[in-house]
Amino acid sequence: MNRDVIIACDFSSREATLEFLDRFPAGRKPYVKIGMELYYAEGPSIVREIKARGHRIFLDLKLHDIPNTVKKAMRVLSNLDVDMVNVHAAGTVGMMRAALEGLIREDGTRPLLIAVTQLTSTSEEVMQNELLIRTNLRRAVVQYALNAKEAGLDGVVCSPQEAGLVKEACGQEFLAVTPGIRFADAAADDQVRITTPARAREIGSDYIVVGRPITAAPDPVAAYERCLKEFI
Ligand code: C5P
Repeated sequence: MNRDVIIACDFSSREATLEFLDRFPAGRKPYVKIGMELYYAEGPSIVREIKARGHRIFLDLKLHDIPNTVKKAMRVLSNLDVDMVNVHAAGTVGMMRAALEGLIREDGTRPLLIAVTQLTSTSEEVMQNELLIRTNLRRAVVQYALNAKEAGLDGVVCSPQEAGLVKEACGQEFLAVTPGIRFADAAADDQVRITTPARAREIGSDYIVVGRPITAAPDPVAAYERCLKEFI
């Protein structure tokens, strides 16, 4: 599997996003994550524009609804020609199967589909006492990953610290896409369970999703290159 660094473009406008991407040399086209903030601010046109510039796109909208609604929404997203999209595994195997069906384009191709397991912002205590999921966090993540695999998905979003467990349960080919990445000499920001790019590679991440360590760096291109060097 090809490892890659995906930059989380958590900007609120087209202008800020393009200004950021313009800093990269002409031949360098990083894989870009577009999340809810940018998508809701700018709509599908920002996806088309970044795609036209030659970037691969992970559209991180984390869909979770009844299967029929998710299937139809996925049809729309797939036609935006994105490379990766996601759903919440909590939506059930049935919803994930419907999402996958909706993604298949007329020519038979489709973007990668991955599932969010337990958000890294959810603690074990909250999961057990608010959501009434009476197991430990790691078992919940592995079960969600197994459900995603059963539905035919390509992988999951998880903490890098869970990537090894997911691979053990679902196989090496099953993708682990992991945020929560920080350089060894940097601040954690609001992320709790963090890992360096090099460690994420050792544990088995296929894609690391990196936001502020690149977007807020004094020299974002250098920070991106450093991530690549440590991870690939
Ligand atoms: O700036 P930072 O590197 O923390 O950004 C990480 C990105 O990954 C953000 O876009 C965040 O929304 C996303 N993410 C995360 N934890 C998850 C799922 C997604 O940090 N469990």
